[in-house]
Amino acid sequence: MNLCLCLALGPLLVLHHVAAVHLELNTKNVSHVMKLNISEMASLRCEVLDNTRNEELIWYRGIRQVDVSKKNNVNSSQVCIFPLSTEDNGVSFTCLLKRDNTVKLSVMLDIRFPPILEGESSVTVEVGKSAQLTCIVKANPQAEMVWKKNGVVVTMEKSRYRQYLDSDKFQLNIDKVVETDGGIYTCVAVATDDNTTTTETKMFELLVEGKKEVLPVEAIAAAVVVGALVILFGLFARRETFFKPCMKKRDDTSL
Ligand SMILES: *[C@@H]1O[C@H](CO)[C@@H](O)[C@H](O)[C@H]1NC(C)=O
Ligand SMILES: *[C@@H]1O[C@H](CO)[C@@H](O)[C@H](O)[C@H]1NC(C)=O
Repeated sequence: MNLCLCLALGPLLVLHHVAAVHLELNTKNVSHVMKLNISEMASLRCEVLDNTRNEELIWYRGIRQVDVSKKNNVNSSQVCIFPLSTEDNGVSFTCLLKRDNTVKLSVMLDIRFPPILEGESSVTVEVGKSAQLTCIVKANPQAEMVWKKNGVVVTMEKSRYRQYLDSDKFQLNIDKVVETDGGIYTCVAVATDDNTTTTETKMFELLVEGKKEVLPVEAIAAAVVVGALVILFGLFARRETFFKPCMKKRDDTSL
């Protein structure tokens, strides 16, 4: 009975409040992007405006709710993110009115950091096979990528060389490897942000080894048999030499 009344009046009351109450996030009344250096602290302040009573706020980081203390969620709330990590780049923080989730504002973090390069730095390949060097790249803004071999830019005109770049890796593929493909390769990332250019490099070593001798199964089996015979023969041969001294000794004593 009471429930019916609430259901009937609820939407009207909410509509009345929505019209009045609104939020500001970092003094802006629209969702926005916040550009920060990775060494900085992200300080997010959400404020309820035109409210007539206590209004509780909640926060989300992406799709997950963030815990804030009771003291820090009535009428206004502040969230600090420090230290920032590369994982925070592109993440949205949303401040919402607890009693009405449609009243909300978001800020997306645009975390700037110089390129970070990783990957398996030593690759061994057999002559004739194909080799792949993978340079894992994290950068914001995006970096320009180049492969160098022994300090010289690798030209892709050589038909055996191909490079692939996607959002998080830069690969160099070499087809039908020859011995001279071996050497030190460098993955170079050049990023420019606000007139500041940063260059990062990572070295990769390509080791080319000769074709492995392929032994057929019969040859291996034959080798095992021969080996066993050699050992047996050795034992028989040794038995002679083992027994001889004894017999000799016996001979000696009998003499
Ligand atoms: C929140 O705002 C309302 C309306 O201005 C006010 O009445 C209330 O005292 C405030 N609460 C706190 C904890 O500041
Ligand atoms: C970058 O350099 C140009 C020319 O030197 C200058 O006009 C511009 O203001 C600089 N931008 C920044 C963000 O420093």
